[in-house]
Amino acid sequence: MKIGLLGFGTVGTGVLEIIGTRNQVFKELYKEPVEITKILVKDKGKKRDIEGIDGLLTTNAYEILDDPTIDVIVEVIGGVAEAYEYIKYALEKGKHVVTANKAVVALHMKELLQLAAEKQKSFLFEASVGGGIPLLKPLRQTTVLNDFSEIKGILNGTSNFILTKMTEDDLSFNEALGIAQEMGYAEADPSDDIHGTDIARKLAILSSIAFKNDISLNNVKYRGIEKINKEDISILKELGYTVKLLGKAVVKNQQVSALVEPVLFKNTTQFEKVNNAYNMVSVKGNNLQELRFYGEGAGKLATANAVVCDLLDVLTKSYEKDFIIRESQRKLTGVSLILGKYFIRINSENADQIKKVEGFIYDKGINYSRLIDKDFAIITEVVSAIEMEEIAKEFDEMNLDFFYGRIEKE
Ligand code: NAP
Ligand code: HSE
Repeated sequence: MKIGLLGFGTVGTGVLEIIGTRNQVFKELYKEPVEITKILVKDKGKKRDIEGIDGLLTTNAYEILDDPTIDVIVEVIGGVAEAYEYIKYALEKGKHVVTANKAVVALHMKELLQLAAEKQKSFLFEASVGGGIPLLKPLRQTTVLNDFSEIKGILNGTSNFILTKMTEDDLSFNEALGIAQEMGYAEADPSDDIHGTDIARKLAILSSIAFKNDISLNNVKYRGIEKINKEDISILKELGYTVKLLGKAVVKNQQVSALVEPVLFKNTTQFEKVNNAYNMVSVKGNNLQELRFYGEGAGKLATANAVVCDLLDVLTKSYEKDFIIRESQRKLTGVSLILGKYFIRINSENADQIKKVEGFIYDKGINYSRLIDKDFAIITEVVSAIEMEEIAKEFDEMNLDFFYGRIEKE
């Protein structure tokens, strides 16, 4: 099997490393050597730690995509426009494609899977969700036997790493982000990690598979961890809660809601124990009840491991041509199916402003309990995420410095 590797950063170098160390095993098991014959990079002159690869590097993608000796393209350059163009071109040329690129998959999954099916080739993307966790393959298998009603997960290593370091080591947001970038967890543009976009993409992919629908990034509402400060973390710690960025999708009466937002887990839950770049995903199905997946959600070798698992499926031809079952036409309903008690914190010295806030919440008929006297920090009764969106919109219009998170039961 000859591989053209597009991208030689965190994930690409991991793929080369794993293939290099396991090649003897591949030969013994599958009677076929696995070889990376060309590598696409942006900057050929960049200093790289790996020796003996200079002859493989190119900055011209089509030198790889048009090479008839190459059977499989591994796309790990990231971004959308060029990655999508190269993946599509490779499939059209009759090559198998393996990618870790959730940005492309969350937007173009249906089209690319159909193209792969037409060409009788594989389009596999295990590494796009949950890093090293074997997740999509078992999920799509169990989808044949189960109706899933809920899927939720801590699905972004970088934001979870930042929250863990702010909570446990008292680091600032930027200090923790800097370390996550050094570790290779963050996206090229880390705002995707921080603002919830990355989880929204992963939730779109997971819920498309689990709910047998076509759910794209545009169907998922999301917000991130940008408004959380150290004070929120310490108030919540005293109350026995930890903040996590969670993606959750729910099905009820043929309707689907998908939302990414900060949530509070009690410190007695398993989700609360998911720290650093680890991810955890829970799915609820009629046969399985609840199934949980846990593992490293980002990083060089964990992610590369998932990419190489897909390559083994190509090698052994154990992939399905179009693995999403599209049997239901559920309606996407915004966030109306997501309910919970919300923690709200507002920083304001202005007593009139706080009075206005109290009046606004009272007028909406929402009861709450006040947590501390100094600042305005409350926990509401159970409300829908839609009601909470309306409240947040009003606070934004009042230019308030505030944070809110839903209390998530395990
Ligand atoms: P990265 O470290 O930034 O590496 C990107 C590589 O692609 C670099 O080698 C870069 O070349 C090359 N590249 C970028 N744009 C290019 C272009 N337009 N033309 C040619 N080459 C280009 O990225 P990464 O962390 O490995 O992530 C790659 C993909 O995997 C992304 O889609 C990401 O979302 C996904 N992913 C990453 C992780 C993770 O933990 N890092 C986990 C799961 C999924 P140079 O080396 O010359 O700069
Ligand atoms: N930036 C992503 C994360 C990489 O931190 O989870 C893994 O998809």
